Amino acid sequence: MPAITVPLTHYREYSPDDMQQRARTFADDLHRRRTVRDFSSKAIPEGVLSDCLRAAGSAPSGAHLQPWHFVVVTDAVIRQRIREAAEAEEREFYASRAPAEWLAALEPLGTDPNKPFLETAPALIAIFGEAYGELPDGTRRKHYYVTESVGIATGLLIAAVHNAGLVSLTHTPSPMGFLNELLGRPARERPFLLLVVGYPADDARVPDIARKPVEQIVSWV
Ligand SMILES: Cc1cc2nc3c(=O)[nH]c(=O)nc-3n(C[C@H](O)[C@H](O)[C@H](O)COP(=O)(O)O)c2cc1C
Repeated sequence: MPAITVPLTHYREYSPDDMQQRARTFADDLHRRRTVRDFSSKAIPEGVLSDCLRAAGSAPSGAHLQPWHFVVVTDAVIRQRIREAAEAEEREFYASRAPAEWLAALEPLGTDPNKPFLETAPALIAIFGEAYGELPDGTRRKHYYVTESVGIATGLLIAAVHNAGLVSLTHTPSPMGFLNELLGRPARERPFLLLVVGYPADDARVPDIARKPVEQIVSWV
């Protein structure tokens, strides 16, 4: 069956100069993003997260099955429960589960099992990947490239949050199964990560780390 198509009306072509300028400005702006672990409790203006999530939902996905679900948690009691569950997993991780090599890699970041930001920050976005879909009659629909698709949507969300002037922390307490239970999500949705979002604390500090220069991460053939 041939695909039903429509004209590509939203494409915009820029002059080479404008193109260079836009590419540079965008890269410079993304390089100002830092993962923040010291959050203020200041509320996020109404509607902002909704637009950031709309940006995330523009991501391409395997066979366009959009295998993602986002739960925005602002409720203080649920954030407290998430903190308790995450810290319990993290205590085990740091005490016994993490191999020495992993702990050594984390050392420059100064992270530990305490996650006060899960309660301080005004919003947590729990991101789930749908292992498979469910049709209205209850039958399963296979999903393709779920991890890749959800990863791209999450990247767009992180960029959108940064673009809005907020900061985020990509948090991955391991394992994260407690999120299904606390947020009432079905087993076919696998927790992908927890994005902590808000304003930085006035005295927020970040690890002094460098990013690889473009020459080191790219080969041109
Ligand atoms: C998949 C993924 C998982 C991460 N998990 C955690 C985490 O559980 N806790 C944490 O403090 N940072 C976590 N981070 C944040 C990284 O430590 C951070 O991105 C890295 O140190 C680079 O810092 P930058 O984002 O400021 O460039 C994670 C990042 C990614 C992409």
